[in-house]
Amino acid sequence: MLGETVGTIKDVLYVRFSVTDLQVQQQFLEDFGFKSEISNGLLIARGTDASPYIYIAEQSSDPALISVGFAAESEAALRHIAATDGVPVEANDLPGGGLIARLTDPNGFSVEVVANLADSPLLTPASRSGLNDGVEKLRLGERVTFVDADSLIKRLGHVVLMVTDFNETLEWYQVRFGLLISDEIVIDNEGKQETLGAFTRCNRGEKYVDHHTLFFINADQAGFNHAAFEVTNWDALMTSHYALLKAGHRHSFGVGKHILGSQTFDYWKDPDGFTLEHFTDGDLLNESSGSQKRGLEDLLGTHWGPDGMPGQ
Ligand SMILES: [Fe+2]
Repeated sequence: MLGETVGTIKDVLYVRFSVTDLQVQQQFLEDFGFKSEISNGLLIARGTDASPYIYIAEQSSDPALISVGFAAESEAALRHIAATDGVPVEANDLPGGGLIARLTDPNGFSVEVVANLADSPLLTPASRSGLNDGVEKLRLGERVTFVDADSLIKRLGHVVLMVTDFNETLEWYQVRFGLLISDEIVIDNEGKQETLGAFTRCNRGEKYVDHHTLFFINADQAGFNHAAFEVTNWDALMTSHYALLKAGHRHSFGVGKHILGSQTFDYWKDPDGFTLEHFTDGDLLNESSGSQKRGLEDLLGTHWGPDGMPGQ
């Protein structure tokens, strides 16, 4: 049952893709705000938070999402997850080492869980002097200044997956990860209430976590929808927006502010057409925040910005 299990994961950690051209992809990632390197045929990118990688790509003529990686709460939690599926816990040969277990979800997505990953040194995030809004002035007698950031991105925030059986998928992730539902999307199908999908979050007890770490959407075909990376603030989001436009990259959707989760969003297409999002100012919930049932209009609507479904 929801809420009875304390979760086994801290957060989503990385997405791993195959892409058609590593150099072209690296240029996009740098323009998107990552810090990246190519080593032994692997493109590895990070943000300013401590994870040594939040995006990984290898080259292939068949571009695809390869896996989604999660950080276990502990080695014991990782071993518990691995035991559920009878898969081995192995040494992780990526930077930061630690242990890894590889699972396959009911849609065929590869799901990786790591523990004991060594932190990388924190990098300098984007920040700025105080904001003077119309009600509260935080910068007095001072001109605006911006910190020269190592990377405009801080971390991976969430992943959205199209799934062929929502109930089976949700149960699979809840059994292993103890995810909580933040918002369940309920639609009316010829007078019958049906669940279209749900925004789910990690259960870290009293600790506040993102409104959603995984969002599952029922669909005819399983597939990757988008991955969202957190940037420091509105200035960083818009700095990236104009840098990406100037560099000639393909804009997808935004800028706007979601109703569910409240993120200020900006969606882009990478060179292979995968959707990657920048977001800032999302809601934080904890174990006690409960869950809601919401309609399609809240999913597709915005506080401001374009209405519609990102990631198409
Ligand atoms: Fe998103």
